[in-house]
Amino acid sequence: MDLEVLIPEEKIKARVSEMGRAVSADYRGKSVHLVCVLKGAYTFLADLARAVEVPVTLDFLAVSSYGKGTKTSGEVRLTKDLDSSLEGKDVIVVEDIVDTGLTLLYLFNSLLARKPASLKIAALLSKPSRRLVEVSVDYVGFEIPDRFVVGYGLDVDQKFRNLPYIAAVVSP
Ligand code: IMP
Ligand code: MG
Repeated sequence: MDLEVLIPEEKIKARVSEMGRAVSADYRGKSVHLVCVLKGAYTFLADLARAVEVPVTLDFLAVSSYGKGTKTSGEVRLTKDLDSSLEGKDVIVVEDIVDTGLTLLYLFNSLLARKPASLKIAALLSKPSRRLVEVSVDYVGFEIPDRFVVGYGLDVDQKFRNLPYIAAVVSP
């Protein structure tokens, strides 16, 4: 599979640091509960959490919205739930990428029902041209064109998550 670097490691690093500073400013005097959407957001979560300067707690959930390949199934399923309650917490959902928006819309609504004190969304990447439903993303790392991307946690068929940069898959 041919890959083309879209966002190099240094650019991601600089942007995630900025996002961490923005979160720190917005939550000054509070602590923040980061909810990582597995698996794709694991790298972003690790870097973002270390760039946040207010106290942080973490939890993890997993959803599946894609089967094999690069087409959405349109169906969102919670495959691993959180360990702890969200009640009264200032929560940020940490996601790798917003594509159609279906995953985050589903997550946002189901997490809101758990009565957090506040609920925001951070996504490393967004493909605005692909949106099917409106979802308000509070912190966006980079807006990208409609290309299928891998690396920095994102995969195609579970591969390439370990790349330290974001690359677009070049169609043959
Ligand atoms: P949505 O529900 O269509 O917004 O899709 C969100 C999920 O699809 C993300 O959490 C990713 O797991 C996956 N996804 C969407 N676009 C890409 C991509 O370009 N590369 C890898 N995964 C993607
Ligand atoms: Mg994902």
